[in-house]
Amino acid sequence: MRVWLTGGTGFVGSNIVHEALTDGADVMTTVHRFVPEGPVGYATDRVDMTDEAAVRSSIERFSPDVVVHCAILNDLSRLYVDREAGWRAYVTATGIVADAANAAGASFVVVSTDWVFDGTQPGADEATPPNPVNLYGVLKLASELVALERGGAVARVSGVNGVHRCRPDSPRRQDPGFGYFVASLVDTLRRGEPFTVWESDDINMVATPSLASESARMILRIGELGLSGVFHCCGRDAMGRMALAELACEVFDLDAGLIRSGPPDPDAMPGAPVPYDTSLTAPRTSELLRREPTPVRRLLERFRTEYEAVA
Ligand SMILES: NC(=O)c1ccc[n+]([C@@H]2O[C@H](COP(=O)([O-])OP(=O)(O)OC[C@H]3O[C@@H](n4cnc5c(N)ncnc54)[C@H](OP(=O)(O)O)[C@@H]3O)[C@@H](O)[C@H]2O)c1
Repeated sequence: MRVWLTGGTGFVGSNIVHEALTDGADVMTTVHRFVPEGPVGYATDRVDMTDEAAVRSSIERFSPDVVVHCAILNDLSRLYVDREAGWRAYVTATGIVADAANAAGASFVVVSTDWVFDGTQPGADEATPPNPVNLYGVLKLASELVALERGGAVARVSGVNGVHRCRPDSPRRQDPGFGYFVASLVDTLRRGEPFTVWESDDINMVATPSLASESARMILRIGELGLSGVFHCCGRDAMGRMALAELACEVFDLDAGLIRSGPPDPDAMPGAPVPYDTSLTAPRTSELLRREPTPVRRLLERFRTEYEAVA
């Protein structure tokens, strides 16, 4: 299989690259600001996802079977400051990549998020109508619609934990979402320092944690099968932040006595509403991929193995 993707140097994208290579695929990813050094086992192409001619030419030359659009302008505050740039980076870019994939006869998958839901829709499945509460969610939802109207697939991931396969040293901090939550907890407790689990009505308090490598496998499978429509590429269990922290302590053999509860760091708040409960279910995904979602304990056990392998 030949896989072309955007954002293969990012957190989720680097896991897609890693899993595809593990399966023997030929991989090309766009690179943007960060360029990996040395022989990496995959091809790179310096392409801005908003540059239609460059995207089309890169995909044409590589001739992939599967195209995954995973790159993102990952800066919620900036989206509000420059809304046109935000629209271009999300919605226009998704159309550009989807059209180029279609022109090359490749299947197309765009990676999306549980933040298309408003935080009052617990257990949302693939058919639940989204209702985003911030501009990131709006732009992701608009990108989803662009992908769907072009016959592509939408792979929503949520509460993504795991190892960054391209930049393992990149800073891992707690934020108002669930991404990097377990990694930042484990890093802190392993130093013997206390970790304050943020608890507040103003942040994402409940989600369905995923493991980046497993979500990556699901995304690749959707592309390989040429499926279309919406998929939830997440784990099985909805969880609150404190319950996840306590379970992570059990799985990683850490001292749960170092866990505190407290309000979020005001400097980390995005200045925009954050959905409270974005838990997902995945009946359509389970049926079409013929796999049951993985319990969160098992995901954390696998995360521990990955974490210790790169340490
Ligand atoms: N992480 C999570 O917890 C989470 C949760 C839900 C959904 N998601 C979804 O997962 C996807 C990936 O997120 P992530 O957390 O992996 O993001 P990330 O680590 O910030 O990676 C973003 C990637 O996009 C690239 N990029 C940025 N601007 C670009 C441009 N103009 N042209 C080409 N490439 C560009 C970046 O390259 P440079 O670094 O070189 O600029 C980087 O490789 C997104 O669709 C996001 O919505 C993530």
